[in-house]
Amino acid sequence: MAQVFDRSSNALARASLVLTGLIVIALGVALNSLQRSPWVTRQGQRPDQPVPFSHKHHVTGLGLQCQYCHTSVEKSSYAGIPPTKTCMNCHSQIWTNAQLLEPVRQSWATGQSIQWIKVHDLPDYVYFNHEIHVNKGIGCSSCHGRVDEMPLMYMQNSLQMEWCLNCHRNPAVNLRPTAQIYNMAWAGPTTDRPLWCATTGSDGPTAQGVTCVSSDPATMNPQIAQLTAAQGIGKQQSGASLQPGSLQPLESSAGDEDVTNTPVIEMPANYVKFTSQIDLGHYLMKQYHIRDANQLASCEVCHR
Ligand code: HEC
Ligand code: HEC
Ligand code: HEC
Ligand code: HEC
Ligand code: HEC
Repeated sequence: MAQVFDRSSNALARASLVLTGLIVIALGVALNSLQRSPWVTRQGQRPDQPVPFSHKHHVTGLGLQCQYCHTSVEKSSYAGIPPTKTCMNCHSQIWTNAQLLEPVRQSWATGQSIQWIKVHDLPDYVYFNHEIHVNKGIGCSSCHGRVDEMPLMYMQNSLQMEWCLNCHRNPAVNLRPTAQIYNMAWAGPTTDRPLWCATTGSDGPTAQGVTCVSSDPATMNPQIAQLTAAQGIGKQQSGASLQPGSLQPLESSAGDEDVTNTPVIEMPANYVKFTSQIDLGHYLMKQYHIRDANQLASCEVCHR
């Protein structure tokens, strides 16, 4: 009996099987990268907001601090979006006729809040909390990028699981002194710009009990050093750099209150000099009691 299929068609069948396999794999890869593409994650997109609010203008231009509007970021899981009243503090007097601000005035008049479109939005099954990140030395810019340079808000990072895990497996590269969390320009210490840190406080090392200064405490005027240690240097503007100039606000604030009357604070003797982010990060890991990578990357941390 003659073969219905000859040898060559057998080869053809095998080839088409392989081909189908390849197409399936290619589709899988395509779907996977689609899922991670900015088109799906909305990374970098600027949604059409009811009012074209500019962080660049209000933060860099006017010098407003993040906490002025995002009031709950240090003490709750949510940073919060400011109510219309916050805008009206100024816009009842400034730019009162601007068409751009009509929705703000409308909202103020009717009492209906402005319908901002969320730029960052994790799925409900993920647990996230601002408070713990901010109080353990992760700055806004580590997750949100240079907000002070954004005319319109966009999402700098994907917020996908891998991105969270990447830091949870190795937080040291991102840890900074808590006084620096609003500093949009923070870049760890280097040999040219070293940092001296010490633990203060009587109840053992905590995140708030770490003080870092940008000039050698050994050569500092002891009174300034005490003040600096007491106030935590650089607790000022976002964008403030860790230059010796950042002592300025301390000196001016000392004006109303005589320096000699300030209760004497014990100078911490345990200053350590840091010239690299990684060394600082490992030091802060210990001081802040950051859990180890295994614990921080376990599923229950984010899926409860
Ligand atoms: C004058 C008030 C004001 C100040 C100051 C301010 N913001 Fe905002 N922020 C807003 C408003 C209003 C929105 C919502 C509109 C938008 O997304 O642009 C917002 C949105 C955001 C969002 C995105 C929220 C979302 O939808 O996911 C982030 C992140 C953010 N701000 C971070 C910061 C940081 C970091 C700073 C300090 C460098 C800061 N903001 C300072 C008013 C402010
Ligand atoms: C501390 C005062 C202050 C607060 C608070 C404030 N603004 Fe403004 N805003 C200004 C000033 C000043 C300008 C004009 C800046 C200029 O033209 O130099 C401005 C400009 C604007 C503009 C015009 C576009 C631009 O950025 O130049 C918009 C829109 C705006 N603000 C929206 C808002 C919204 C929405 C809020 C509340 C979340 C808000 N502002 C809170 C002071 C403020
Ligand atoms: C560890 C990363 C991380 C840090 C640090 C961080 N954020 Fe966020 N932020 C997020 C994520 C993730 C969301 C989305 C939360 C959600 O959808 O539930 C978010 C959302 C927001 C929102 C939208 C409103 C809200 O409360 O969800 C604002 C405003 C905001 N962040 C401001 C800030 C400011 C200001 C800082 C610095 C003081 C900061 N964030 C630090 C990751 C971070
Ligand atoms: C840049 C670094 C960084 C990024 C990015 C980051 N985290 Fe964290 N996260 C930390 C650090 C540091 C801690 C504090 C750990 C500790 O105290 O042991 C923390 C703690 C947490 C906790 C607290 C757990 C608890 O038991 O209280 C949760 C939940 C969490 N992160 C969720 C997330 C999620 C979800 C994302 C992504 C959307 C994320 N984190 C992104 C650094 C980061
Ligand atoms: C640091 C926080 C964090 C930890 C730890 C974590 N996840 Fe997630 N997970 C997320 C975030 C954020 C998303 C949402 C991603 C998105 O929006 O696409 C997510 C999404 C998921 C999804 C939905 C499908 C997907 O991939 O988008 C599954 C399933 C999941 N996680 C399983 C796990 C398992 C299993 C573990 C433990 C091995 C784990 N996660 C640990 C943050 C975390």
